[in-house]
Amino acid sequence: MPEITIKSHEEIEAMRRAGRLAAKTLEEAGKLVKPGENTLAINDFVHEYTLKHHGIPAPLNYEGFPKSCCISVNDVICHGIPKKSTILRDGDIVNIDITTILDGWHGDVNATFYCGTPSAEAVNLVETTRQCLEIGIAQVRPDARMGDIGAAIQEFAESRGFSVVRDYVGHGIGRLFHEPLQVPHYGRRGHGIRLREGMTFTIEPMINAGDWRMTILNDGWTSVTRDHKWSAQFEHTLVVTKDGCEVLTRFSGPLTNSTTPADFKF
Ligand code: MF3
Ligand code: CO
Ligand code: CO
Repeated sequence: MPEITIKSHEEIEAMRRAGRLAAKTLEEAGKLVKPGENTLAINDFVHEYTLKHHGIPAPLNYEGFPKSCCISVNDVICHGIPKKSTILRDGDIVNIDITTILDGWHGDVNATFYCGTPSAEAVNLVETTRQCLEIGIAQVRPDARMGDIGAAIQEFAESRGFSVVRDYVGHGIGRLFHEPLQVPHYGRRGHGIRLREGMTFTIEPMINAGDWRMTILNDGWTSVTRDHKWSAQFEHTLVVTKDGCEVLTRFSGPLTNSTTPADFKF
């Protein structure tokens, strides 16, 4: 069993490069989200773009996953398999999850995009989830406890009447896609391991409009909500720094199609 690793400055610099490529790939892939597009076409773009920039798409063949990224639409919580027959429609919410290996280091990032014009309910769910990730990130500093992250996310999500998915958690990341440390998006303040400078992990809350329970489809991957209400997710890879954290997968500008609508009020 590998242990929780503390990354050196050189290793963090390598993860910055992997994270930057993953984020750029996600930004570009998000521009393809529009009515009539199929999710396999987005996957194929991600695959080619990654190779062109000397990266490797980590999901491809990872524990048997058949494609180069996950694309999860509406009631799909995560691990949606891109397909030619999954055609995006106006009003859908579309999560694209990109994990890139560059020079042996991983960057893992995802965002939920609006396809065409979203309903007010969809905007409420997606913007709450976007904020859940930022609230989680704001908890991260040396000596904070892992449970502080989950507690802050859960409190906010539930205050909006939404639920937090229990079956999937954030994870340590580095040379491996999934390293030992776990980051639940629910929990109790003051509980869990103590965060240390140089730890690298993801925060990736999945927030459901209805109940948190899920089922897995017969393909063995696709996780959908039991009640078929919609689910949104955002993810970043980050490193704990001396006085907080650095997000290694930040975007260079606003995410087209995924930006908070100007008239949205919390
Ligand atoms: N990218 C997902 C995560 O955030 C994991 C996908 S596993 C795969 O951890 F096999 F589907 F790629
Ligand atoms: Co992840
Ligand atoms: Co991911």
